[in-house]
Amino acid sequence: MNKVLIIGKGGREHALAWKFASYNSVEQVFCAPGNPGIAKESKVSTIPVEADNIEELLKFAKQEKITLTVIGPEAPLVEGIVDRFNEVGLKCFGPTKEAAKLEGSKVYAKEFFERHGIPSAKYDVFSDFDTATEFLKQRDFPIVIKVDGLAAGKGVSIVKSLTEAELILDDIFHKKVFGSAGSKIIIEDFISGEELSYICMINPFRYLSFASSQDHKARDDGDNGPNTGGMGAYSPANLMDNKLEKKILDTVIEPTIKGIQKDGLEFTGFLYAGLMINEKNEIKVLEFNCRFGDPEAQPVLMRLKSNLFDACLDLLNNKNEFKALEFDPKTAITIVLAADGYPGKFIKDIEIPESVDEVNSKDNGVKIFHAGTYTRSNKVFSGGGRVLNVSCMSESLLNARSSAYEAIKKLQIKNLFFRKDIGQKGL
Ligand code: GLY
Repeated sequence: MNKVLIIGKGGREHALAWKFASYNSVEQVFCAPGNPGIAKESKVSTIPVEADNIEELLKFAKQEKITLTVIGPEAPLVEGIVDRFNEVGLKCFGPTKEAAKLEGSKVYAKEFFERHGIPSAKYDVFSDFDTATEFLKQRDFPIVIKVDGLAAGKGVSIVKSLTEAELILDDIFHKKVFGSAGSKIIIEDFISGEELSYICMINPFRYLSFASSQDHKARDDGDNGPNTGGMGAYSPANLMDNKLEKKILDTVIEPTIKGIQKDGLEFTGFLYAGLMINEKNEIKVLEFNCRFGDPEAQPVLMRLKSNLFDACLDLLNNKNEFKALEFDPKTAITIVLAADGYPGKFIKDIEIPESVDEVNSKDNGVKIFHAGTYTRSNKVFSGGGRVLNVSCMSESLLNARSSAYEAIKKLQIKNLFFRKDIGQKGL
């Protein structure tokens, strides 16, 4: 009897749980801690253990004899959850603590890129306000400041002037708003172009590519406003073609696999390369994440036709023969509904109407994944910044977009906002 444990509670984990539960070979899916939308999926149960409670998760996985554990968010990976599961012989899909530094430390990632010839922006590392400010006085703007450690999507700033930079450096080094994640920073060249997410499943010997996708990180239409965790995504990304994909594989993914081998890193999991593609189709890596993207997972997993459970186990068992992952040729889109105020201080406890589940029960290609929701007295409320992910798969991007926006209109939930231009670049 195959049991899968998904760690996390967002839209990505909802999509993962929904996908794993769709396979006949998987008898049961658990999600820790999950959310009310996940709990409503058939064959899926949520358990009240937070993603950072590694010892409780381990105890549960042992007790239930979990076949495969899949880690959604980065924090438990950076804390070493995979190492702990591996110690007791449990199969866990994700990098070990050392390999997870590719996401957990921007400096570590930059050094990895340099060592293995992976294209990325020029950078310098600083650990105090004065030296960083002196450096910036000699530089042109815009420029990019990144804190070294995990910062929940808030650690990257594109800075347009020295005055703005000084305020950010003051926050990082004097006010310590990022805590120890900001003890070091990177200042790197600003790169213009279009962002593309290239996500694979890897082990130290091979990779299986997911379909391309494009995220929309800025809060407001037209890519304006502050950076968020992602306000929507669609797949396939319009930007991608065979030539560009080959270039990404040759210059980023294959050197990464070789680098992981050379450095002796244990990484069997999702690798997310955040890329910038300029008008000449030149590629630069903005960042590596060592987990699936959120919201990219939602449209990409809607399109996935291959068996993800088998693929995870085959990579963990280092099987020799692999078939490329297959995807529905249709287009899928996810539009994030976020609580007013997000990504700053946002409104909580917005009641989520039952109409959300009614949408899911209709067979019209629309699926709503829950993200920051919780249950109180049998009612569902918002608890996080990104609350719902209205998704749709259809023959064309045009249709997928209009069905998803139509579904949002019908929900009529107050105090949630969304971008009106998700996928517009692809039309
Ligand atoms: N969508 C951006 C991320 O998952 O980091």
